[in-house]
Amino acid sequence: MRKEKLLDLLKQMTREEKIGQLVQVAGEVFLMDNVSVTTGPLKSLELSNEMLYQVGSILNIVGSEKIRKVQDEYLSKSRLKIPLLFMADVINGYRTVFPIPIAQGCSWDKEVVYNCTKISIQEAGASGANVNFSPMVDLVRDSRWGRVMESIGGEDPYLGEVFAKTMVEAYQGEDISKLGNAAACVKHFAAYGAAEAGRDYNTVDMSEREFRQYYLPAYQSAIENGAEMIMTSFNTINGIPASVNPWLLRELLRKELGFQGIVISDYSAIEETIAHGVCKDKKEAAYKAIMAGVDIDMMSNVYANHLKDLVEEGKVSERLLDEAVLRILTLKNKLGLFENPYGNTNEEREKKVLKSKHNLQAARKLTADTFVLLKNEQQILPLNKENKKIALIGPYADNISILGSWSIFSDKSKIPTLKHAFEEKMGTQNILYAKGSEILEEKEINPILIADGGKPIHIENEKEKQKQLLEEAIEVAKQADIIVLAIGEHYRQSGEACSRANIEISQIQQNLLNELSKLKKKIVTILFNGRPLVLKNIAEKTDALLEVWFPGTEGANSITDVIFGDVNPSGKLTMSFPQAVGQCPIYYNYYNTGRPHINNYRYVSRYQDIPTQSYYPFGYGLSYSKFEYSDLKISSNKMSKNNPITVTVKVKNYSNIPGKEVIQMYIQDLVASIVRPVKELKSFKKEYFRPWEEKQITFEITEEMLKFWNEKLEHKAEEGEFKVFIGSNSEDTIEEIFEYREAN
Ligand code: BGC
Repeated sequence: MRKEKLLDLLKQMTREEKIGQLVQVAGEVFLMDNVSVTTGPLKSLELSNEMLYQVGSILNIVGSEKIRKVQDEYLSKSRLKIPLLFMADVINGYRTVFPIPIAQGCSWDKEVVYNCTKISIQEAGASGANVNFSPMVDLVRDSRWGRVMESIGGEDPYLGEVFAKTMVEAYQGEDISKLGNAAACVKHFAAYGAAEAGRDYNTVDMSEREFRQYYLPAYQSAIENGAEMIMTSFNTINGIPASVNPWLLRELLRKELGFQGIVISDYSAIEETIAHGVCKDKKEAAYKAIMAGVDIDMMSNVYANHLKDLVEEGKVSERLLDEAVLRILTLKNKLGLFENPYGNTNEEREKKVLKSKHNLQAARKLTADTFVLLKNEQQILPLNKENKKIALIGPYADNISILGSWSIFSDKSKIPTLKHAFEEKMGTQNILYAKGSEILEEKEINPILIADGGKPIHIENEKEKQKQLLEEAIEVAKQADIIVLAIGEHYRQSGEACSRANIEISQIQQNLLNELSKLKKKIVTILFNGRPLVLKNIAEKTDALLEVWFPGTEGANSITDVIFGDVNPSGKLTMSFPQAVGQCPIYYNYYNTGRPHINNYRYVSRYQDIPTQSYYPFGYGLSYSKFEYSDLKISSNKMSKNNPITVTVKVKNYSNIPGKEVIQMYIQDLVASIVRPVKELKSFKKEYFRPWEEKQITFEITEEMLKFWNEKLEHKAEEGEFKVFIGSNSEDTIEEIFEYREAN
């Protein structure tokens, strides 16, 4: 449809019809059933039946048949036949589930992230999703926050920028109406990941400079690469909740960044500004949100019930309303919904695409690239497929709950467990199994179940049962040559509203490891979790430690591919793992302070009881190959805007095993007008090395990489000396110094 026709359509709309477009409800409300999925509190929305058939979009119902039914019924009652938009949370997969986003980022591989994203949207699109609530690009530094599992770039602004672009490209392609594409909705704008003390939905307060330097780049990258939508965050940003923040949404987002797409609130976030204490009632919330620039009210009735009065009273102009409506009509038009209201959904396609053999095979391959090998003493991994008897122990050894908390549309049938996957590789006779323990004790799981609206459980004779599980595990372990222990967080311990003050594996699982370690056998631990954990005890008691996050549908097969050496692990951490929870927030690109911890003098910036640095640093991850770095050289030790320089390094695989390595380049501005981080990631390359292969790797250093937000909030490079570091993680690096002049 041409723009003039859209404007014509807008002219024909009544005020109620226009307001309807700005309202989004969950499928549950619409269908009055329990089949769809809600992600927040479901309250009575007090929407009139009339309004219900005027709402512009629906959240989280998918499935070809259902979508057709809802769209048909809606259109039959819609005067102007404006189709509904269907939006969904397909975060790390639809029916086929991929590793959680934090894990995907750990691949440090655009192709991996692209392919996981692409297949997810191909599947979701076949089931009718027009818009996906992803990518989530919130920068995260505090692993107490449960939503770090959703962050594609982890603690690094550059990784966030790179992967935001990759994901938007994968979702939207060249044309969002085409098969296999959909609109992307980048979230949560802004700085949601900086919630104080890692407690979800909590206050965010930071300088504008800090915000622009670290938190903004990833959202900006998604916007610059054409993301059609952006979702506001739940938090305040410098005193004003994001959903009613005119500086954030009008000044920065629309005016400065030139965002033309739709702004949607997060789930009931407009109404929640009342609880924040910045709006006295729903009417004021509606007023402030529309004035700030929120186009769609997700799951509160604030716009539906109050915008009309506000326009009639002259407080909100019709023009403002029209602008918001036009943005929504424009997206529907771009998606081709006026011509074909069902989008790319059809049952035939669903049958062909969903959880297809192709997608499962792809998942198995992609997933293996997201694992991070944290420890491998005496090269105990990879294991030999022959002769050894393996005791596979732990609550994750035969468990399909490995999809992560966002797997709301997943197909849970026929998910291989680790036990299946091990038996497939080794045959059944050499695999001994024992559960060893539950993931959590009754007293730990019950608050989670209750908060989810479920019933508490009661385990009769819990202590005795624990003892029995442990004894069985020890018996099994005694008969084996090696122990493979599969432990971790419960999948409902990470994700939204899953903040934790204690970020260790549960005591019963630690106890299991402690007891097994007394047998003095080799232990390989496989770790399932959604956040960086405090791993000291676990790492010390195991010989090898493989971080597999929540790896998704094919996770178990990918794990055995890595454990037995069919795939060489190549993931690297995108978040620092703390020594103790007291270090949170912890991140590699910190400022030095006036008293850096370089000696053990008393009055330096340090802890008395634990080291200052992380337990596993940002960028860290081992391989079965052995990579060595040498001969760092810069093309010149002077550079300027028009004379960028290059830096080269030799990387050699000192092993018989082919493998991939992520070569990382960091820069430090040694003296500047404001404090600058000890190092910042500026580029990386993931390279494949044959056995004993040596490669010369080259990076360019440009003026752009030296820029930062200065005291006057200008984004500029300053003249002076810089250090460039290259290495296999943020701590093991080799370095050189160069000088930057504006002109030379
Ligand atoms: C979450 C969003 C999600 C939305 C819709 C909210 O609770 O914060 O990330 O997209 O629900 O389900």
